[in-house]
Amino acid sequence: MKGNTDVMILGTGRAVPERILTNADLEKIVETSDSWIVERTGIRERRVAEPGEPLSLFASKAAQAALADAGLEAESIDLIILGTVTGDMKFPATACFVQEQIGAKNAVAFDVSAACSGFLYALQIASGLMAGGRYRHALIIGGEVLTSMVNWADRDTCVLFGDGAGAVVLGPAEGDRGILGTSIGSDGAFSSLLYNPGCGSLNPPTEENVRAQLHTIHMAGREVFRNAVVAMTKSLKKVLEEANLQPDDLKLLIPHQANLRIIEAVAKRFGIPMDKSYVNVDRFGNTSAASIPIALDEVCRQGLAGPGDLIGMVTFGAGFTWAAGVVRL
Ligand code: ACO
Repeated sequence: MKGNTDVMILGTGRAVPERILTNADLEKIVETSDSWIVERTGIRERRVAEPGEPLSLFASKAAQAALADAGLEAESIDLIILGTVTGDMKFPATACFVQEQIGAKNAVAFDVSAACSGFLYALQIASGLMAGGRYRHALIIGGEVLTSMVNWADRDTCVLFGDGAGAVVLGPAEGDRGILGTSIGSDGAFSSLLYNPGCGSLNPPTEENVRAQLHTIHMAGREVFRNAVVAMTKSLKKVLEEANLQPDDLKLLIPHQANLRIIEAVAKRFGIPMDKSYVNVDRFGNTSAASIPIALDEVCRQGLAGPGDLIGMVTFGAGFTWAAGVVRL
């Protein structure tokens, strides 16, 4: 989709749990090793929410940090979109809890379910809604407490995921800054390769279903890996072509942080050197919808990119869903 150059990122923020779970900690829980996890995924540690720390806590903290960075009060926000699959509750939308917790009483708030693509889906939706002129300032958040649906006895999945949230504030653009392009896609034919079958109306969380671990993450890792590399490369290419940009024009690429090998494969296929591909999967694991906005906040706060720089973002997740975006900060 053509971007919305009337809208730019005014501020970024992130919040992650205090508790760090290292690969050495996981060695005590399942039959795995630090060397296997590092070699196959690049992950060394991840953040894990304590019991009683729901998504809204991290999403609200990330939102407040983004608001402070933008120099805006919560009351000037008129749209909140939260990408997540691990909201505090099935309903209401966790975006409504965030609205209440930060005092954004003039906003309309809702969640978007697109798994790891949730943040970029939310960015495209907001970009489209803001083009109509009805919304001036928006909070776009990606956040997850994925460890709440991890089966800690399943080494295929439990080593991969972490918790946290990241946020951006969107508002009126200055000069040539803005959202230059976004692209989102999905293919439901692959839904059973990565899913959480037991928390909805198909398999409600009965005692029997919980005993069968239906409420946890089920994943065919190798197939997900293969599809992720192909779809991420394609959608990044599409979004850059639509914006008349070359890979070389990017100051930095922020890929979804699922696995270092996926990031390396996408960068190689796309002809982007690894020193232009941001990586923090070693410290956070796969935080799903939170991974891109957490990384974006780190990039901005570390001064790795700043006003006027072009940033590419690309992701892939359950659904399957995929998405890419290019912004001039
Ligand atoms: N520790 C030790 N051994 C393990 C572990 C573990 N934690 N997990 C699996 N193994 C074993 C397997 O049992 C298998 O053993 P076998 O050969 O005796 O059968 C062996 O390691 C190899 O397993 P593979 O699944 O082939 O390993 P692979 O190299 O594909 O890596 C991984 C697995 C890391 C899950 C990879 O496929 C992957 O990252 N896939 C993408 C998954 C993902 O990121 N999903 C998140 C959501 S979607 C997204 O964000 C993109």
